[in-house]
Amino acid sequence: MGANRVKPAEEPVIDMHHVDKSFKGHQVLKGIELRIMPGRTRVILGLSGSGKTVLMKHMIGLFRPDAGQIMVDGEDITAMNSAELLNIRRKFGMVFQQAALFDSMTVVENVAFPLREHTKLSEADIMAQAHEKLALVGLMDALQKFPSELSGGMRKRVGLARAVVLKPKVVLYDEPTTGLDPITTENVDHMILDAKEQLGVTSVVISHDVGSTLRIADDIAVIHEGVIVEDCLASEIRQSEHPFVQKFLKTWFEK
Ligand SMILES: Nc1ncnc2c1ncn2[C@@H]1O[C@H](COP(=O)(O)OP(=O)(O)OP(=O)(O)O)[C@@H](O)[C@H]1O
Ligand SMILES: [Mg+2]
Repeated sequence: MGANRVKPAEEPVIDMHHVDKSFKGHQVLKGIELRIMPGRTRVILGLSGSGKTVLMKHMIGLFRPDAGQIMVDGEDITAMNSAELLNIRRKFGMVFQQAALFDSMTVVENVAFPLREHTKLSEADIMAQAHEKLALVGLMDALQKFPSELSGGMRKRVGLARAVVLKPKVVLYDEPTTGLDPITTENVDHMILDAKEQLGVTSVVISHDVGSTLRIADDIAVIHEGVIVEDCLASEIRQSEHPFVQKFLKTWFEK
């Protein structure tokens, strides 16, 4: 090994190789090849039913593939047992498509919960951090409300605050802005950008909003009927020659 040894190329945080998945004979993922590189924001675009949520759930071992390999930080998670998977999931924050909140806890307690479970912070620090995240998503007026008292968009924002409160290495967002008004959408986009710039977080964001995608993405993957039909830099997406991608973008730009 010489002094001028070449630095190894950066390893992907998530590396999916030839992943197949079927449910009851219906193949939902078909030979997925996808890499998520550290510190970058990857947006996955696709129509409803194309397999986006199923793809994302494979990244944290909530589904096991029928074939293929999924590496997280260099470890193959496809053969892991549930204890090993729990360990892997600590690296992740996840915002589910249906904000999965604890109905019996207030907003602030929902966000404080991961801190209570996984840290030894003082009560004052826990509250300070929960408040900080809730302020970012504009929910300081709703601290003591219960999930049943919130609108869908508000519940989504609580889920977002909770996902980033432990400062995870990777955050997975399943349609974080669907159903939100334009101003809240912009706030959520900024939150994703801030998490990257201030915390160096790697993000995977499922979307069908092209405007939001162009604001936040470094890299884009387009999934169509279970196949990745485009994998490129965000700056290259408009040059894509794939007919489905062209159609998808055209519909949006003509709005
Ligand atoms: N647990 C499951 N059991 C059986 N089929 C499933 C399961 N989860 C998803 N599917 C099927 O997989 C396909 C892809 O679903 P998925 O939820 O990934 O779509 P999506 O791209 O996230 O769509 P949307 O934008 O509407 O959320 C659908 O046909 C769905 O019915
Ligand atoms: Mg989905």
